[in-house]
Amino acid sequence: MSIADKLLNWYDANRRHLPWRSAPGAYAEPYHVWLSEIMLQQTTVATVKSYFEKFLRRWPTVTALADAPLDDILVEWAGLGYYARARNLHKCAGVVATEHGGQFPRTEAELRALPGVGDYTAAAIAAIAFGESAVVVDGNVERVVSRLFRISDPLPAGKKPIKARTAEITPKQRAGDFAQAMMDLGSGVCTPKKPKCLLCPLNRDCAAKAEGDMEAYPVKAPKKIKPTRRAMSFWLVHDGHLLLERRPPKGLLGAMPGLFSTPWVERADFPTKPEWLEHVPTNDYWKPVEGLAKHTFTHFHLETQLVAAKASARHNVESGFWHPQDKLEDVGLPTVFRKIAALGDSK
Ligand code: ADE
Ligand code: SF4
Repeated sequence: MSIADKLLNWYDANRRHLPWRSAPGAYAEPYHVWLSEIMLQQTTVATVKSYFEKFLRRWPTVTALADAPLDDILVEWAGLGYYARARNLHKCAGVVATEHGGQFPRTEAELRALPGVGDYTAAAIAAIAFGESAVVVDGNVERVVSRLFRISDPLPAGKKPIKARTAEITPKQRAGDFAQAMMDLGSGVCTPKKPKCLLCPLNRDCAAKAEGDMEAYPVKAPKKIKPTRRAMSFWLVHDGHLLLERRPPKGLLGAMPGLFSTPWVERADFPTKPEWLEHVPTNDYWKPVEGLAKHTFTHFHLETQLVAAKASARHNVESGFWHPQDKLEDVGLPTVFRKIAALGDSK
């Protein structure tokens, strides 16, 4: 039996039942596949489930999503991180609604042209929603395939031979189930540490299992260490309202709400009072608050301290807005700002 057939038999008996999946052998709804794949790009299955269901309840079709205001989508997305995904989600829904008559295109090349859809996502949608024999490689597939064939080129250069080997074992039929079977195998059986090779349907095909060096794969180029940036954020309250900033539309956390802050820069110490005074949003009486908030982004760690003031009025501040302090959940604060705001709320 081929690797694909063994894996598909295993999948039929052991697959995870996830809200965006179809029955084995059937194609899933393209809108569901696209939405889930975008959410799953940098977020775990466990976290995505509830967000996926919430989005579908509110926006049952891609056209409904296209018609929604971006700000509503950003509020629902809050907590998932990587907010460029949410902005591209809205853009992509608009393109599908206006340029494709509300139907996702079927080919990998056309899918790849949509905003926010990269090589991986285009292949995943083509295979899972349309049954195209596309080659789908995510982190799970990289691990399984690099072990099956003991591919020792370090990632990211190793992506090329891994993709070539994946292409060789991808079936003409049920390519979508095959891809998701690889993901399920990678997440539950062929795990990074202590893979459960005894339970693996591919254990007789696996070169790393034969050598006993499974955990050595995938080989990775040494990680760059993440620098730490340090900043002060500003907590300004008047009459039960908190001053928030609408961040600029481009860049990290673009268009999301946040607290006004000093620039996030790599440095050994926190800004001194004369330094942070240059960035205060208002001329109120500002005082440091106890505590430290830590958050890690893709390329850096951020440590933040808070300075607080009671405002003499609800001043008008450029790109700022006042929001009821007891309704902070409604505004869709990104996780980093929820952590920082917790310093202000607890005092
Ligand atoms: N990760 C990315 N896409 C996935 C899918 N369709 N099923 C499970 N995990 C995934
Ligand atoms: Fe992974 Fe072990 Fe299966 Fe090889 S035999 S694919 S290492 S679980």
